[in-house]
Amino acid sequence: MNNNDYVIKNIKLADQGHRRILWAQSFMPTLKLIAEEFEKSKALKGLKIGACLHVTKETANLIIALIRAGAEVFLAGSNPLSTQDDVAAALVKYYGAKVFAWRGETDEEYKGMIRRVIEHSPDIIIDDGGDLIVMLHEEYPEIAQNVLGGSEETTTGVVREKALEKKGKLLFPIIATNNARIKRMVDNKFGTGQSAIEGILRATSILLAGKTVVVAGYGFVGKGIACRARGLGAKVIVTEVDPIKALEAHYDGFQVMPMDEAAAVGDIFITATGNIDVIRKEHILKMKNGAILCNAGHFNVEINLGGLEELSVKKEKINYCVEKYHLRNGRHVYLLGAGRLVNLVCAEGHPSEVMNISFSLQALVAKYIAENHMELERRVYDVPIEVEKSVAKYTLKALGIRIDELTPRQQEYLESWK
Ligand code: NAD
Ligand code: ADE
Repeated sequence: MNNNDYVIKNIKLADQGHRRILWAQSFMPTLKLIAEEFEKSKALKGLKIGACLHVTKETANLIIALIRAGAEVFLAGSNPLSTQDDVAAALVKYYGAKVFAWRGETDEEYKGMIRRVIEHSPDIIIDDGGDLIVMLHEEYPEIAQNVLGGSEETTTGVVREKALEKKGKLLFPIIATNNARIKRMVDNKFGTGQSAIEGILRATSILLAGKTVVVAGYGFVGKGIACRARGLGAKVIVTEVDPIKALEAHYDGFQVMPMDEAAAVGDIFITATGNIDVIRKEHILKMKNGAILCNAGHFNVEINLGGLEELSVKKEKINYCVEKYHLRNGRHVYLLGAGRLVNLVCAEGHPSEVMNISFSLQALVAKYIAENHMELERRVYDVPIEVEKSVAKYTLKALGIRIDELTPRQQEYLESWK
């Protein structure tokens, strides 16, 4: 369905989407509080927000908070396969968001929808992965010049935006929301830890206990996945390129080895590096018959898909998320979610409680940009510590958890060292 204000799959899905948005909302208490405060203060009144995010029931609650603050919101998906079409429809029908996304976009359609957002000349950007911010810089510098600031949701996006900064090409300030301690811990680690495993299980319904799971990358995402896979009884192998992370994985009790060795023993492979060609032809050729391959990193480049095609004589669709590749060597392997983010393509992404934290940060960062853009330079900034602490405090309160406070004597003691 296509008109000037939206391009979505089917507006008739709106009621189902709305029910799911409200379900998610009941697990997002911090964001709910922020939305109520935004409604009163109209913190984003008159501003246009351009967002490129996975269009999920959790994202919908962020968009609603921004709209309640007085903003006009233009939303494209941040992956061609992660859009929940019922949610997109509900955002259009019940909240007046301008949504340009559907599940199953081609790469060209995907870029076209981001262009639709840019063409509305947004004041503030909220991106997940950097596609919107990079396109603004490369193709629309005159629009980018007028952007007040942007916020980045994920590790790969921050890497790309820091590269623009390093080259002196950044045209507006960026807040690296991903890099907030609370975000990387709750979202990248615990969120992906659970949701990537959920994606694999929904797609395959296999038993993890007793399987050998190879996790590539022991950063925040890899750690979460390795820990949860072990919790379900899998034997977990970690591959790394960073000697310190490799040692950490070893002392956390995982087996560590190069992919070249792991390839021959793994039953399930999960990449989580933000890097390219982590699983290549030479690895696939060593894999057991029936090995399962998937990716939790931002882009579909971690498994060399071209190489996989070249090694294959035939490809067979097993279900909505699983493809069987018949290899020339007589074996077969399975690819989940077309090598894209397994948690968002084969399942619904992180649980709402996790996105409560990430999107509370995003909402407060948008407000921070609106209020402080005059003082910000064309740099990549960390999230202000007050913003991070207030999200943590509100969330603890909503969870009914109390913590200690420093006594004056303790405060004095800590500050007494020279
Ligand atoms: P990170 O920087 O903390 O960790 C990445 C790790 O991968 C590092 O330890 C690095 O040394 C390692 N690595 C790099 N190249 C490697 C290689 N060839 N082999 C093995 N290890 C390698 O990053 P992160 O926060 O864990 O994010 C990882 C990726 O996941 C990024 O693309 C990020 O955007 C994405 N991400 C996805 C989700 C999701 O919902 N699926 C959520 C958060 C982040
Ligand atoms: N990234 C990971 N999980 C997500 C979710 N549920 N919604 C939006 N972005 C996500």
